[in-house]
Amino acid sequence: MSNKPKIVAVSGGLYKPSRTRVLVDEIVASLGQQVQFDLHVIELADIAAELGSVVNPADLPPHIAAHIRAIENADFLVVGSPVYRATFTGLFKHLFDFVHHEALIDVPVLFAATGGSERHALVIDHQFRPLFSFFQALTLPIGVYASEADFSNYRVSSELLKARIELATRRALPFIQKRQAIGDAETRAAA
Ligand SMILES: Cc1cc2nc3c(=O)[nH]c(=O)nc-3n(C[C@H](O)[C@H](O)[C@H](O)COP(=O)(O)O)c2cc1C
Repeated sequence: MSNKPKIVAVSGGLYKPSRTRVLVDEIVASLGQQVQFDLHVIELADIAAELGSVVNPADLPPHIAAHIRAIENADFLVVGSPVYRATFTGLFKHLFDFVHHEALIDVPVLFAATGGSERHALVIDHQFRPLFSFFQALTLPIGVYASEADFSNYRVSSELLKARIELATRRALPFIQKRQAIGDAETRAAA
C-alpha cells in the first residue's frame, strides 16, 4: 500500500465543462509541484442524478459509496463548488450529508469556489467554513475564490488568481507534510 498522503478533490459543479473543476484541478496541480500524493477526484456532474435520488446511505450505488469512503479516509481535502444562490450547490451538501460526522476531525481542508462575479467571494467564510467546522475539520485560512472573469475558455487566465492558488497551496503544504509524518509514524509503529 502507498505511504503517500491521500488527497481527495471534490468539484461540486453540475455542468461540463466546469470552471470549478478547472479551479480544483489547478489547485491540485499546484500541490503536485510541491509534494507527492495519491489523488481521488469526485466530480458531482458525473454522479449528480444518482446521488440526488438517494437519501438512505444503504441505497448508495457502490461507486458513490466508494467516493464517501475516500472522503472519510482522506489526509487532505480540496473542496470546491460553484456558488448557487449564495452558497454551494445543493448536491455538494447532499454528498457531505453522507459523510460520517466524526470522519473529518482534524483533516485539513482547502476551499475553492467559483461565482458569476466577485460579490459572493465571502461564500468561503460564510458557507463552506461553517459546514466543515461542524465536521471539526481543520479549515485552512486561505481559500481560493474565482469569478467567471478569471477564466478564458475554461482556463485560468487571471494572474491574480494564479498567484492566489500558489499562495493557498504553499500555505497548505505543511499541513499535508504533517499528515504524512503522522501516517509514517503509524506505519512504523504497526511494523
Ligand atoms: C442555479 C445557479 C445559481 C447561481 N447563483 C449564483 C450566485 O448566487 N452568485 C454568483 O456569484 N454566481 C451564481 N451563479 C453563477 C455560477 O456560480 C458561476 O457561473 C460558476 O462559475 C459556475 O461554475 P461551473 O462552471 O463549475 O458550473 C449561479 C449559477 C447557477 C446555474
